[in-house]
Amino acid sequence: MSEQPQVIRREDYTAPAFLIETVELVFDLDREATIVASRLSLVANPERGTGAGDMVSLDGEDMKLLSLKVDGVALPADAYEVDTTGLRFKAPSERFVVEIETRISPVNNTRLEGLYVSQSAYCTQCEAEGFRRITYFMDRPDVMATYRVTINAPRESCPVLLSNGNLVSSTDLEDGRHQAVWDDPFPKPCYLFALVAGDLACVEDSFKTMSGRDVALRIFVEHGNEDRCDYAMDSLKRAMKWDEDVYGLEYDLDLFNIVAVSDFNMGAMENKSLNVFNAKYILAKSDTATDTDYELIESIVAHEYFHNWSGNRVTCRDWFQLSLKEGLTVFRDQEFSSDQRSRPVQRINDVQRLRAGQFPEDGGPLAHPVRPDSYIEINNFYTATVYQKGAEVIRMMHTLLGAEGYRKGIDLYFERHDGQAVTCDDFVRAMEDANGVNFDQFRLWYSQAGTPNLVWEGNYDADKKVFCLTIEQKTEPTPGQTLKSDLQMPVKIGLLARDGRELHAQTIDLTQAKQDFLFEDIAEQPVVSFNRDFSAPVNVGTTPSHDDLAFLMGNDTDAFNRWEAGQKYASDLLIAAVRAYDKSGDADAALGNVDAFCDALRATLTNDDLDKAFRAQAMILPGEAMLAEQLRPADPEAIYQVRQALRQKVAIALQDEFEAAYRHNASNDAYSPDATSAGQRALRAVALSYLAATGEGVFIDLALAQYRTADNMTDRMAALTVLNNQDHPGREEALADFESRFANDTVVIDKWFSLQAMSSRTDTLEQIKKLMEHPAFTMRNPNKVRALVGTFAMANQRNFHAADGRGYAFYADRLMELDNLNPQVAARLAAPLGKWRKFDEDRASKMKAELKRILAKENLSRDLYEIASKSIA
Ligand code: ARG
Ligand code: ZN
Repeated sequence: MSEQPQVIRREDYTAPAFLIETVELVFDLDREATIVASRLSLVANPERGTGAGDMVSLDGEDMKLLSLKVDGVALPADAYEVDTTGLRFKAPSERFVVEIETRISPVNNTRLEGLYVSQSAYCTQCEAEGFRRITYFMDRPDVMATYRVTINAPRESCPVLLSNGNLVSSTDLEDGRHQAVWDDPFPKPCYLFALVAGDLACVEDSFKTMSGRDVALRIFVEHGNEDRCDYAMDSLKRAMKWDEDVYGLEYDLDLFNIVAVSDFNMGAMENKSLNVFNAKYILAKSDTATDTDYELIESIVAHEYFHNWSGNRVTCRDWFQLSLKEGLTVFRDQEFSSDQRSRPVQRINDVQRLRAGQFPEDGGPLAHPVRPDSYIEINNFYTATVYQKGAEVIRMMHTLLGAEGYRKGIDLYFERHDGQAVTCDDFVRAMEDANGVNFDQFRLWYSQAGTPNLVWEGNYDADKKVFCLTIEQKTEPTPGQTLKSDLQMPVKIGLLARDGRELHAQTIDLTQAKQDFLFEDIAEQPVVSFNRDFSAPVNVGTTPSHDDLAFLMGNDTDAFNRWEAGQKYASDLLIAAVRAYDKSGDADAALGNVDAFCDALRATLTNDDLDKAFRAQAMILPGEAMLAEQLRPADPEAIYQVRQALRQKVAIALQDEFEAAYRHNASNDAYSPDATSAGQRALRAVALSYLAATGEGVFIDLALAQYRTADNMTDRMAALTVLNNQDHPGREEALADFESRFANDTVVIDKWFSLQAMSSRTDTLEQIKKLMEHPAFTMRNPNKVRALVGTFAMANQRNFHAADGRGYAFYADRLMELDNLNPQVAARLAAPLGKWRKFDEDRASKMKAELKRILAKENLSRDLYEIASKSIA
């Protein structure tokens, strides 16, 4: 870095000096040199009292200014200033028209922000600050305007021309070019602008809204993928219906377009009426997509659709308020999925994701509040905290207010703020005002970083039949925030009798550092089911006895906590064993007798009253990274060995039951992605993976046989996942088969890359290096980089943390290489190196050395600089 990048602070927010009322854009598309003409009508902002003579400051990066006119007159060179960050000139009056022509180069845009080329199509990504790479503009979400967009392009290579809003006209031009004009009547910030042009296939359907309007639904994909859009289309229609039913929110235009592109920095983008998706979250058919892919497609299609209200109709005042739209929209998509599928399994998945991604963030060097106070690069704040913890904060308000009170707050929020750019505080105020409550203390969830720790203790007075539950909360300091306050949170609890009856259930409103809660008429010493349904997003430090955990696994009426009890039990065994292993080096001995745990698992596995998807989940032991979070220092090799040893013990103890589960859950029916069928496949996959863990060769053969005969991707991947960690000729056979089937399928081949990057085999890094030479791999495609390189650091703890440090060195090299092409994605992948505090001194110093090497890189981006510098501090 040549100069220290500037820190942007929330407290420095000021309203824009000028507003933009209307935007007219004309694009003359060309891969090397696209000309963008814009005509902006500006007006002084009354809130700021600005006017003639005040500076008009427009953001702009990486483009050539061709011409600039104000009120129809070209500005002389000394009347404006242009540099690498933007364009500035003095306002002639309170109301004036600015005309700008710029030239940009989509084909050379490797950052995939602004206008770029993916395969043969042009597309845009403007959130957060990509619009300033298209034309000079006030690139901030509180500047909302209506847009009219004209696209001129060759008819042959770009028969499809799309932008936001309604199609006004389509015309043929000379020289084989044609033109489309789009008009979006809803004022929007520029981050919601989109343009797509190319030779794309289209799948069509329609939806009748609650007021009887017909909306045309279109999904645009590369030719040849038309048969992979059904599930996304079906998900879209279900999402539209759900938003009407549950939120009373209706779609507001007569068309809704989705485009799937192969090159995309994130998951998808909610541009007004023109959502652009990473193709992996649209394309699915039974032989290319797993059940998990189907689930993700359903939730992301819904997420982006839901943004039409929570994000587009009401948007963010500034980027510090990002969780206003993201936390709320994640909560909405989670609830949608819960209603479409099994609610407890959905909750388990969401909590696992929070724990795997957000808790480590909140407890590490990159910790920040749901509403951050400062940033260097906003793209670094599309985080698990803003998204997942943000959703938990909304969920807690839902729990505290109840479904009806929450809905009243939502109604008031949209009534008050439709068409505005607002703050997280505005959202909370709507919740308060609609319900007559005070959320002053609750608001701390937006400003305070860190995961609270709760400990509890129960005391039963047998004479008085009174049970007293004492709860303490504490949040550890986080970078830049040493003092923590007590938070308000809803803690759902249940008190169970030994025979399984529920004696009492309640949602506790916790507000103090230490609080007693008394329960009367409790007939016997109860077993406590604490923080049911994960009602508060916290760590619970209290570990009940193994007897109580086994009891809860079998008896809790709260399905989430049944699963949670199993996880706690397993973690407790594994952590004790890792400590013992460090001394003895013998994983089996370190684990000791685990029969009681196996019995409890058996009871769950064979309980036909439980959902199969739930049973499958309950069999999976806490992951290696999760265990590392609970150990300091964490020894990745010990964790791996001990976890494998416990898997083997469980596998041997439950072999008969797993064999039965495997046999009974085979299906002769054609593949269907519904939750029940998926649960059946998941249970069978878990059974197969445990059977292989017995170490008996016949089960590896079974996996190979399953691979060979699989008629859907879920079963195929389940088999391949088992083979992937083996030293068996079946592994090579299956991997080679997969490669030859899917080498030309850019979405599917990523599964093959990431699987190999995940392998626990010790030759994995060498394999990855070889795979980087594979014709299907390129550092220019974010999905490829994430699949092969990202997976290695994020999902292969054993090999990434190899004691000699070669995993770290390889990874840092890739980050630096990627930083030159796509800094945003490079920065998003950098967090694993920042986990050095969790490991032994030797590993920690090697990780820090790599961070230092990154910080010394020439032309280091702001993006990667921010993550690396914060990670090392
Ligand atoms: N708003 C999008 C979503 O969550 C995320 C896009 C963010 N993109 C970015 N480059 N920061 O649905
Ligand atoms: Zn979103």
